[in-house]
Amino acid sequence: MTMDELASDLDGIVATEADISAALDRLAGEIRSDYTDPSSLLLVGVLKGAVMVMADLARRLPPGVAMDWMAVSSYGAGTRSSGVVRILKDLDADLTGRHVLIVEDIVDSGRTLSWLLGNLRSRGALSVEVATLLRKPEAAVVNVPVKYVGIDIPNAFVVGFGLDYAERFRGLPYVALLAPHVYAEDAE
Ligand code: IMP
Repeated sequence: MTMDELASDLDGIVATEADISAALDRLAGEIRSDYTDPSSLLLVGVLKGAVMVMADLARRLPPGVAMDWMAVSSYGAGTRSSGVVRILKDLDADLTGRHVLIVEDIVDSGRTLSWLLGNLRSRGALSVEVATLLRKPEAAVVNVPVKYVGIDIPNAFVVGFGLDYAERFRGLPYVALLAPHVYAEDAE
């Protein structure tokens, strides 16, 4: 795909690299002041979308903070959450006695997250909280407690900074709207 073809699939930038960097600086500041013992903090990333957020957030936190990963099923190749969550890869870490912070790319309907919170809370963690780079409006009304929110974005399908459409666009350093013709073509 050429750069021109890539640009025609996008419909404007929702969060620039500078917006993302400022949001992550603020989140890291809040997290540092809330978790005074870095060695008890475990960041849990949800693959694959949270990879970029995790990498950039972890580099803003003390070196004693640990990281672990889970993979769960979400959208597949479409643009709507199914509400059906399956564990594709479980954590390596034992959560007993740890403070867990789930690191998310985006909270939309909150379905994935509310399932994940319930699941991790049943494993003996001292606390389980959530940090997300992006939040859509629907997430603000569902009953999912998200303690750390980077940027509130409009209710549209976005890609970049870890977020994909059919595995494309994850590597964009900013977050952009996906042009509607892209998923309209796939639905044909
Ligand atoms: P939720 O269960 O509706 O909150 O969605 C959870 C997951 O769906 C996120 O972690 C993303 O992987 C994916 N997702 C939600 N909204 C978008 C979007 O606008 N672009 C790409 N992926 C999204």
